[in-house]
Amino acid sequence: MRILVVGGGAREDALSWRLAASPSCEVLLHAPGNAGTLTRGTNWPDVAATDARTIVRRAQEERIDLVVLGPETAIAAGVGDKLREAGIAVFGPNRSAGRLETSKVFAKRFMERHRIPTAQFKVVHNLDQARRALDGWRGGAVVKADGLAAGKGVVVCDDGGSALAVLADWYTKNKIPGGGSDVVIEERLSGREVSVFAIADGSTMIPVAAACDYKRAGDDDQGPNTGGMGAYSPPAGFPADLLDVVRERVVAPVLRGLLADGERYRGVLYCGLMQTERGLFVIEFNARWGDPETQVLMPRVDGDFARYLASAANGALETGAATWSQDACVGVVIATSRYPYENTPVSGLPADLDLGDGVVAFWGTSARENGTVSSPGGRVLTVTARAEDLAAARARAYEAIAALKTRFPSGTPLTYRGDIARL
Ligand code: AMP
Ligand code: GLY
Repeated sequence: MRILVVGGGAREDALSWRLAASPSCEVLLHAPGNAGTLTRGTNWPDVAATDARTIVRRAQEERIDLVVLGPETAIAAGVGDKLREAGIAVFGPNRSAGRLETSKVFAKRFMERHRIPTAQFKVVHNLDQARRALDGWRGGAVVKADGLAAGKGVVVCDDGGSALAVLADWYTKNKIPGGGSDVVIEERLSGREVSVFAIADGSTMIPVAAACDYKRAGDDDQGPNTGGMGAYSPPAGFPADLLDVVRERVVAPVLRGLLADGERYRGVLYCGLMQTERGLFVIEFNARWGDPETQVLMPRVDGDFARYLASAANGALETGAATWSQDACVGVVIATSRYPYENTPVSGLPADLDLGDGVVAFWGTSARENGTVSSPGGRVLTVTARAEDLAAARARAYEAIAALKTRFPSGTPLTYRGDIARL
């Protein structure tokens, strides 16, 4: 198979790495790709993940058999729709089903309609409505801007008053993250979070693996929210039948709802869940693989992953083509030290990341130059280690980072959390 991976972050590097190791994968291309993907195939550095027209044209020229969509921006730009119209198999949903991620209002109403457990909510369009909605509000509140806001559209508040302050700021300055005017206000839940990934081929949808990610910048969940500072899989401290419970309470009604709406969802559905005292609730859906969760899910995959994704994209999932091993994997993100406030470009990083048995590192946005790697900063690398249990995987990941650090040019401003998978 000739496979095109759309995107250029560490998630796409991990997907590309696993696809490259699949018997069915003959040729790999990436739009735009990064310093890691370049070692396994061709990059199209000038093709943005959202440039549907160019991606379709070049996929046709290159006789691509399967396209794997990475980022939500590609899904929202309709790259999946355009490729399918051109008769090319795509792992990743169409734009309309992608609204489960790209529109909080759509997702909440979908969950309400199909009786999927989620926090109680109200939708408001202006400050007056927000005032009325929050009048007499009891307990914590979470405000969520409707559109795609790159992680900046959700604010968790201790009470209704602080939620109203956030909304007053957004509405009076006309600065709602994502650029829309609708906002979801919902009850604040408490509990542990876990991400469950379900694979869909248009008529079935099966939860296959789970992971926990770390969103705050600092150890012990201190500091600002980020795109994710680390992850591990499988999750510890959740019931052994987590995937079965998610299948029954979440994935089955999602699939029924999608089919009733005429959607044939082909790709992965990321269910962001919270285990509360009242049971499992959906916090969010994403229409794609998670970042950094994918970096810890790919090393656990056994089998022919390329054939597996192609079977889903072609509408007949071969469930046995790939399986997730019992082994654990821990991933630690190395970021530039001012992240997430500021991205500091770094260069002269070692291109060869051979870090030993069971250890693989994935590049974020990056380029190769004169035998080294440069990065615009932010999340530079995810260092992952697979081992028979979580403690061993964690130890191996941090040993690899200690060794790797000595190979960075001195003074490179990098930082990482020290408590990933410390349970
Ligand atoms: P989202 O973009 O919807 O995933 O929200 C980002 C983060 O905000 C989640 O990972 C949770 O940590 C938090 N969050 C979102 N909704 C709620 C809620 N209803 N109750 C408590 N925390 C929430
Ligand atoms: N790890 C969070 C996300 O991918 O949205």
